[in-house]
Amino acid sequence: MMGSPMPRRELLSLKVLKSVTDVDFNEFSIFQRSAFHKPRALIDASRVQTPSYYRWKYSSAGNPILVQIRINQELVASISAIPIKFFISGEALLVYQLADIATAKSYRRRGFFGTCLAALLEELGPRTPIYCFPNPNSLEGILRAGFRQSTECYFWMRPAWPHLAERNRVDAVPPKQSQQDLFQLGGLDLSDPETFEWRFKSRPGVTYSVVHLQSACTEPAKLVYRILRFGPIRVAAILAARAYNSDEWRGLQTRAVEAMSREGVHAVLEFCHLRSPLQRGFIRIPTRMLGRPFPVVERNFPGSFSQFGAADWDVP
Ligand SMILES: CC(C)(COP(=O)(O)OP(=O)(O)OC[C@H]1O[C@@H](n2cnc3c(N)ncnc32)[C@H](O)[C@@H]1OP(=O)(O)O)[C@@H](O)C(=O)NCCC(=O)NCCS
Repeated sequence: MMGSPMPRRELLSLKVLKSVTDVDFNEFSIFQRSAFHKPRALIDASRVQTPSYYRWKYSSAGNPILVQIRINQELVASISAIPIKFFISGEALLVYQLADIATAKSYRRRGFFGTCLAALLEELGPRTPIYCFPNPNSLEGILRAGFRQSTECYFWMRPAWPHLAERNRVDAVPPKQSQQDLFQLGGLDLSDPETFEWRFKSRPGVTYSVVHLQSACTEPAKLVYRILRFGPIRVAAILAARAYNSDEWRGLQTRAVEAMSREGVHAVLEFCHLRSPLQRGFIRIPTRMLGRPFPVVERNFPGSFSQFGAADWDVP
């Protein structure tokens, strides 16, 4: 009589990778696509989660840290911390973004995400500033690991009608600042040339537009946007901005809407925490239309920084 086959023994290993040279981006891309795959997703993940996208993302500001679990050599869970240079309360600061949190579908609810996150936090130490834009699948687990929700980001939309560049409509409401003379959308350090080059010049397949304005400061004021196309509709999405006083902030907004008008956009999109958007005329896109909220969680961030913008997230 034949006996039933022996269940295959699981050889489980957990590894901490501290250099991009240790990452196989082809394998990583296949793993991420499969873990995030949704049959009727709004964005086709296979067009975003490519090896070149990950190679770009993991070349930010130093060495990323990844914690991965393999079973019989197969990658089954992974979580990453990507170093990014931020500018907070007038000072440059290296922070880490938690990203690419995934467990293979057939290995879920076995504690792998929790185990990987604990190992990653151990590696980063108790004082490193870390943030994340978690989705509803990971939010609870991240909060339980000692993060706090610092803010929530919203999408704001403004039609380019009646006339986008009409001066009196561009009555900018500067975001609240801890520093009186600095106006900032997004944490990213826009004055650090390497950070700017990495985030806005070297991302494969995406072109960003930059609006400059001479500033009282040695650095020009800057605003970065990107044109998104939905069939024939063109939408300008604002990614990040920084100005050094309120006059410059208004000037920058005016110059930005002029540039966007020349590109014939139908609407302007902003992603930020503020309940009042950066310019008049914006309406908030309801969360139910987007399918999920956009909380931001952090650990060890100085003060009460909440200026997160779209460029601080790895998706746009
Ligand atoms: C989010 C994700 C990484 C979680 O991975 P996971 O390895 O299943 O997570 P864990 O097992 O550590 O914990 C998940 C939950 O399962 C529970 N759980 C763990 N083992 C369990 C078991 N044997 N039986 C029942 N529940 C269990 C945990 O308590 C936890 O509960 P919670 O949802 O109340 O927090 C995974 O669902 C995933 O890859 N989703 C798709 C990609 C994604 O959305 N990533 C997040 C991007 S921000």
